[in-house]
Amino acid sequence: MTGTFKPLVFSGVQPTGNLHLGNYLGAIRKFVALQQDNDCIYCVVDLHAITAQLVHDDMRSQIRSIAAAFIASGIDPRKHIVFNQSAVPQHAELAWVFNCVARIGWMERMTQFKDKAGGRNAEQVSLGLLAYPSLMAADILVYRATHVPVGDDQKQHLELARDIAQKFNIDFKEHIRATGKGIDIVVGEEPVHAYFPMIEPLIGGPAPRVMSLRDGTKKMSKSDASDLSRINLLDDADTVAKKIRKAKTDPDALPSEVEGLKGRPEADNLVGIYAALADKTKADVLADFGGRQFSVFKPALVELAVEVLAPVGAEMRRLLGDTSHIDAILRDGGERARARAEVTMNEVRDIVGFLR
Ligand code: TRP
Repeated sequence: MTGTFKPLVFSGVQPTGNLHLGNYLGAIRKFVALQQDNDCIYCVVDLHAITAQLVHDDMRSQIRSIAAAFIASGIDPRKHIVFNQSAVPQHAELAWVFNCVARIGWMERMTQFKDKAGGRNAEQVSLGLLAYPSLMAADILVYRATHVPVGDDQKQHLELARDIAQKFNIDFKEHIRATGKGIDIVVGEEPVHAYFPMIEPLIGGPAPRVMSLRDGTKKMSKSDASDLSRINLLDDADTVAKKIRKAKTDPDALPSEVEGLKGRPEADNLVGIYAALADKTKADVLADFGGRQFSVFKPALVELAVEVLAPVGAEMRRLLGDTSHIDAILRDGGERARARAEVTMNEVRDIVGFLR
């Protein structure tokens, strides 16, 4: 008899750099939507933050501001779990087991790793950066989570997490049976006795990719040298207005059909941002603004962006004004996460054969 794993949503955000509109529309809004019908765990991944850069001067405030952004955006930390990764040592413990399940070649093939560590940079990057996807797999699987909302740049890491889960299930097949904690699932056509579920990535949504306001072919990024390229969640209304007014465009009016956005990356991006903020499709937006100049569209976008983002920014500032509240939420989330992670870790210790 085959079964299914109980659905559980997990995702993580690194506490590095300010959150911007791309993070908000591409990730956080999805997190908020998913909490209506799912049990959700949202994690500030501070252990991941030290893989690329070891020493951070403001990590604690970065951790609090991601948590504040989650809560200000509408995530309910009582019904769900919001915590920081280092508060639950089981993540690192399972990651160690996964380091021994995964193969070095799998890690070396990751494009994100190759981009950062390509060629002669290998001496310059940490071993943690190579093992990063193994920790990411552990983040998810230490709760046996099934659904993971992420940006499309994380798709390859999730495929690797599936490979780790699958190899663990196969390598430890007999041990899993002996504990009685596995379930029979079907992977592709194959029936497998599984301890870890096959993770489903949740990629896409209304604005999977928000591009730079200065260059519609580049992703909006916290590391772009120009602050005008992005809208930060903590920007005030005047700054949001200024950045949108200065956003790069082309001289033409907006098209009436989505087709007409082809080859016009900046127009496409601004229409996409409007659509995502308004919970509409690009076609809806163009039905209203087709034939209009940017001199008409931009003020409308400013108004909408301020209407949606100002309350989030204001609530973040309020929450960050008194760190004891946010710290209490993270502490409570950490305790609940730890209790759940420990159930899995005990079973993993039994499966692997450690004596406890
Ligand atoms: N690697 C992700 C990113 O940079 C963050 C992350 C860490 C994550 N662990 C995760 C995302 C687990 C989803 C699930 O965006």
